[in-house]
Amino acid sequence: MDDGAVYLDYAATSAVRPEPVIAAVTEYLRGIGATPGRAGHRRAVEAGRIVFRCRRALATLFNAPGDPGRLTFHLNATHALNVAILGVLRPGDRVVRTAYDHNAVRRPVRALAGRGVHEMVLAGQTDGSVDLDEAERALRGARLLVIPHATNVLGTALPVTELAARAHAAGALVLVDAAQSAGHLPIDVQAMGIDLLAFTGHKGLLGPQGTGGLWVRDGVDLPPVFLGGTGGDSDAPDMPALFPDRLEAGSQNGPGIAGLLAGVEWLAERGVAAVHAREIELKLRLWDALDLIHGVTLLSPPAEDGVGIVTMNLAGVDAADLARRLDRDFGVLVRAGLHCSPEQHDAIGTGAVGAVRFSVGWATTEEEVDRAAAAVARIAGAEPQAPQAGS
Ligand code: ALA
Repeated sequence: MDDGAVYLDYAATSAVRPEPVIAAVTEYLRGIGATPGRAGHRRAVEAGRIVFRCRRALATLFNAPGDPGRLTFHLNATHALNVAILGVLRPGDRVVRTAYDHNAVRRPVRALAGRGVHEMVLAGQTDGSVDLDEAERALRGARLLVIPHATNVLGTALPVTELAARAHAAGALVLVDAAQSAGHLPIDVQAMGIDLLAFTGHKGLLGPQGTGGLWVRDGVDLPPVFLGGTGGDSDAPDMPALFPDRLEAGSQNGPGIAGLLAGVEWLAERGVAAVHAREIELKLRLWDALDLIHGVTLLSPPAEDGVGIVTMNLAGVDAADLARRLDRDFGVLVRAGLHCSPEQHDAIGTGAVGAVRFSVGWATTEEEVDRAAAAVARIAGAEPQAPQAGS
């Protein structure tokens, strides 16, 4: 559908997808249609091949060593994070997380805190930084550190390698939430010291909704959270010990994974670093243009090592109202509110009012970014504004 809109909500989902992704989903549904690994006939086998190729392509993208079966498929980052968090933590364990988390981390950890798990939350800052000394202190005796690779309101990247080194020195495992970074920022699980990596397929990886997964380092066992059929070992009363079956109960999303494979192949061809460089160029162009508009408060820093997110507010205009007017009057599609990340909004002072988030992606153009900034300027121009300091 080409509705002429300027889509700037890639942090929520890549609603604009490369043509090969759409073709792969359609071809799967037309030509294969079967459930991977649920029979020995040719269609189930072909479906299984696509799932395996996708595991391998993702393992390569993340530089994950060894058996690609350590990468398991789940519905999205939320499910993968639940599988990891609920699988690792036991009553009496200590978990350290950050105020930059979205509810996919905050809520499962909070639920476990009611069942004897001790939760420590590292403070959030307006520049997206983490106090490494505070982290080191909090990690003493911890079982798990959970951190987002990139934040979904500020668009900043966390120092994963430095935090992982401190976690490992304290004997803790490192779970990285790559919901906002996979496909947008290069990820190397070995160089960064990641033990568990949760990702979604429908954002930077350009696949359809209903795809995502978890990579678990060899040597880390994870008791399954979901229990059920795996297509093999059907007489066994318990889940198999071997990955990926151990964590993958129930029929897999064959068409979704076919689309995800096409998205990952598309990215691998271009290179994630190149996609990142382009997205940062567009983010900075938007940031600079919004910065010139009277009444705009930019909340996200123009961080070049982060992702393509620009979050702002306009004086005198409610965030949800601004997003509505951008869509209705200018065809600019953005996300307003708390972005499922209330603690991050508290840290930047917008917990009570929320903010408007623009996010660029692989298909964004200069012209679209300029149209979005012009739309904000038009709305700002129509509002009575109090004079800004220094103006
Ligand atoms: N999917 C949520 C977002 O839009 C967390 O950032």
